[in-house]
Amino acid sequence: GSEFEEKIDYVFKVVVIGDSAVGKTQLLSRFAKNQFCLDSKSTIGVEFQTRTVNIKSKLIKAQIWDTAGQERYRAVTSAYYRGALGAMLVYDVTKRQSFDNVARWVEELRAHADNSIVIMLIGNKADLVDLRTVPTEDAVEFSENQGLYFFETSALSGNNVETAFLKLLDEIH
Ligand code: GTP
Repeated sequence: GSEFEEKIDYVFKVVVIGDSAVGKTQLLSRFAKNQFCLDSKSTIGVEFQTRTVNIKSKLIKAQIWDTAGQERYRAVTSAYYRGALGAMLVYDVTKRQSFDNVARWVEELRAHADNSIVIMLIGNKADLVDLRTVPTEDAVEFSENQGLYFFETSALSGNNVETAFLKLLDEIH
């Protein structure tokens, strides 16, 4: 590794999950590269990106895994969740179904991931104010009941993306 890499204190694996088209890939590329791609393609298989951040004077390399939300592309095995210390569970604030499915994703995490995994619920596409179908209060209530952290974000504008990832990494650490 490089000189920089040798100074890394921790490597944290984080998985991004949620229904198809909620914006998982765009959230990740906003955080990792500060980029957004309007005509993003559906993810096939598994990809990961990394970003190194400084939290409380420790250098933390976040290794963030992204997989397809579409059932037919998903070969999610315990391998995807193995070693994951954090999870970004994403729904789309304009798609009620993607929020209704969040409970199923939590079950999948409880079944396959480590018990101590830190879970951040993300209501993405908050920029689409006129199309919203999921009230903030519904998600606040759900996350309080389930013991999850919660933020609404926009991968498009970048709003809260950094804050949410850093909060997740800070809670792992
Ligand atoms: P799969 O790979 O199929 O699981 O989808 P995904 O969850 O990775 O979704 P992706 O990041 O590919 O985004 C799906 C679509 O939503 C794309 O057309 C994005 O441009 C759009 N999108 C993602 N995030 C936002 C956002 O914050 N606001 C708006 N308006 N559109 C977004």
